[in-house]
Amino acid sequence: MRRIAHLSDLHFGAEEARIAEGLLDDLASRSPDLVVVSGDLTQRARRHQFLAARAFLDRIAAPRLVVPGNHDIPLYNVLDRLTRPLSRFRALITDDLHPFHHDSEIAVAGVNSARPDRWKEGRLSLRQIRRLQEQFESVSSDHFKVLVCHHPFIPPEGRAPAAIVGRGRLALRMLETAGCALILTGHLHHAYSGDARPFHLEMKRSILVAQAGTAISHRRREEANAYNQLTLDGDRLDLMVRAWDGRQFATTGHKQFRRTESGWTPASS
Ligand SMILES: [Fe+2]
Ligand SMILES: [Fe+2]
Repeated sequence: MRRIAHLSDLHFGAEEARIAEGLLDDLASRSPDLVVVSGDLTQRARRHQFLAARAFLDRIAAPRLVVPGNHDIPLYNVLDRLTRPLSRFRALITDDLHPFHHDSEIAVAGVNSARPDRWKEGRLSLRQIRRLQEQFESVSSDHFKVLVCHHPFIPPEGRAPAAIVGRGRLALRMLETAGCALILTGHLHHAYSGDARPFHLEMKRSILVAQAGTAISHRRREEANAYNQLTLDGDRLDLMVRAWDGRQFATTGHKQFRRTESGWTPASS
């Protein structure tokens, strides 16, 4: 059994300090085995914003796996955006743009979908997709395989349509072949989850997608700050949305799934 805390869209520079402290307290009390951050650590990719994000991450006791988002690439400084888009992220957060965490039960791979020329939508390259395939195929099929990416693979629930990540469909074909069971994403500041297969009818296997809201920033889109807590246990997955209630983080959504031959199905506890 492994517990993953999935944070996204911290947006340092637009963070709420009290909520950031509350999140650190909640993470400390729930002791995840791994904390993943699916991008947008900063608001405008400024040095002081990355330093604040780094100081926050350094206060998390668990191992961390972090990928950048579009806000971690400079928007207004076009020279920096085009010639060294991730230089501050690499210097101040991590130089590893292909992070891979694996142990005896889980294999978690991160990919950078932020692109200087597609600032908002994001895209994956063929080389990245091949590398993810190699990472997932380097561990045995009994591992619970998880992808972390900033941009979404399924459209938002009950809201205006949003683009999915460029080459997302191609990546999904590889991910189902490589046995990936779960994708963790952000960007939309909207917490929702579901099976990718109904949106991508060519898929043969089901892959669960969990989107996280904005964890600590005031860039809320009509919902509370939140993060996801995932408990992976063999063929069972437990997903809790932990949202800020004004004083602390508390569970506001709880779904359980069981992996069957026909795919992920809702399970009762
Ligand atoms: Fe964001
Ligand atoms: Fe974003």
